[in-house]
Amino acid sequence: MYTWEELKQFVDSCSRCPLCRTRTHSVMGRGSLQAGIMFIAEAPGRQEDQQGIPFVGPAGHMFDQLLSSVSLTRDQIYITNIIKCNPPFNRDPSEEEKAACIDYLKYETLLIRPKIMVCLGRVAAQRIIRPDFRITREHGTWTERKGYWLTAVLHPSALLRDPSRVAEAEEDFRRIRQKAAELSIL
Ligand code: URA
Repeated sequence: MYTWEELKQFVDSCSRCPLCRTRTHSVMGRGSLQAGIMFIAEAPGRQEDQQGIPFVGPAGHMFDQLLSSVSLTRDQIYITNIIKCNPPFNRDPSEEEKAACIDYLKYETLLIRPKIMVCLGRVAAQRIIRPDFRITREHGTWTERKGYWLTAVLHPSALLRDPSRVAEAEEDFRRIRQKAAELSIL
């Protein structure tokens, strides 16, 4: 098994797909390595690419707002992405890019062993929960698989585009908090 630092080095020097030629920085996940809750989004955005840190742009501020609505902070959770490099023009990651990158997420999961995995948005939910997952209808629902509790919430960027849905997302975060309490995680 690798340490987080070793994994970060692999991610930083990765050339498994063509995104390595356009990235400024790859973006390894961050947060507590003892976290019971792992959040998984799709891919770093432009500001994340500049800084090498997940969710530091406007979507990151929205994410922090949702965390703080249930009295959580980033140092109590772990947050990462399905792919670790920014796709140009923030397009959806391709199947090839996801396939090339998914082992890093598997190793992060083995290292952290979260009890709850929360997908942020459709792309992550369709990769982690089910290929036909409908984020608009099914966010906030729970699936137990191989000892992990899986759920999905609306992507923070979607909430920036449509703030009328923030209340729904806050409700989902309350349920995540509740599930964490039931599982004695926090
Ligand atoms: N959007 C994502 O999906 N991931 C990030 O890290 C930032 C924005």
